Amino acid sequence: IGMKLPELVTEQLAVQALPGRPEFGHKGTFGHALVIGGSRPFVGAPLYSAHAAYKTGAGLVTLAIPEGIYPAVAGQNQLALLRTLPEADGHFSGAGVEAELFEKVNAVAIGPGLGRFDGGEAFIEEIIRQLDGQPIIIDADGLHHVKGRLGLLARYDGPVILTPHPGEMANLTDRTVADIEADRVGVAKDFAEKYQVNLVLKGHRTIIATPERLWVNPHGNDALAKGGSGDVLTGMIAAFLAQGAEAAEAMQTAVYLHATAGERAACTHSHYGVTPGDVIEAAKGILKEME
Ligand code: APR
Ligand code: MG
Repeated sequence: IGMKLPELVTEQLAVQALPGRPEFGHKGTFGHALVIGGSRPFVGAPLYSAHAAYKTGAGLVTLAIPEGIYPAVAGQNQLALLRTLPEADGHFSGAGVEAELFEKVNAVAIGPGLGRFDGGEAFIEEIIRQLDGQPIIIDADGLHHVKGRLGLLARYDGPVILTPHPGEMANLTDRTVADIEADRVGVAKDFAEKYQVNLVLKGHRTIIATPERLWVNPHGNDALAKGGSGDVLTGMIAAFLAQGAEAAEAMQTAVYLHATAGERAACTHSHYGVTPGDVIEAAKGILKEME
């Protein structure tokens, strides 16, 4: 009684949520996504997010990385604009976050490959303070660093989307992974209500929560259970936000697209062989059917 039951993520829902492509649109029309992440051990993660964003419709993508990994990232990138920020011990030092970084940016994803480092909390806090209501997605170790700042997110003057996997959700809520997995819908609902944020609780049967509503995704498979596939999802969400989708729409269409692209990629590459890059490529075929 009074229970909020989750709705299903369907193709129809995802198609409705997909932002349109005005015929006379230019790259400004389709938005500018900024991805902030990377560290010496995690060079691929921010690249996967940036490339996924580019290949799902963002007009421009900027990738902000610690300066020391610039050569490695630049060598694998032909799509994103690259920005470097000061580095200490293979991670962002926390310095160099200035308002100019966010000018003309329509969506910001923080966390892919970020790693954990002293000053991480202050770094993310500074980013949030500099932003001007643009939608924010926080993933991976960005979630670790924002754990002590959830009140700041609740007060942020724009949409916030957190994309934890069960381990990250356990860390955010000081519970065990078993507790999270035993009540995925309830955990997602309570968190979204309590902190007034949007949540994508990943894993088999991903849960999408807004403070008001819930969805469960029946798509996807074990081909997605590979490092980097979460980073692809983050980039897709950023792209749809940059293209003007509301938070709920961006989560719905990205979760559907990512999961069905994993299924499609497994048809040609096998469940064993799919890589995050294959998921990005397969997403183009799904988008072809959705547009
Ligand atoms: N069925 C359906 N979907 C699945 C399945 C499955 N069996 N396994 C994984 N997925 C999907 C999840 O729903 C999610 O969208 O694949 C994605 C995996 O995302 P993450 O768990 O974030 O994985 P990953 O890409 O490795 O993250 C990269 O960031 O989160 C940190 O610690 C993580 O270092 C790692 C990095
Ligand atoms: Mg991840």
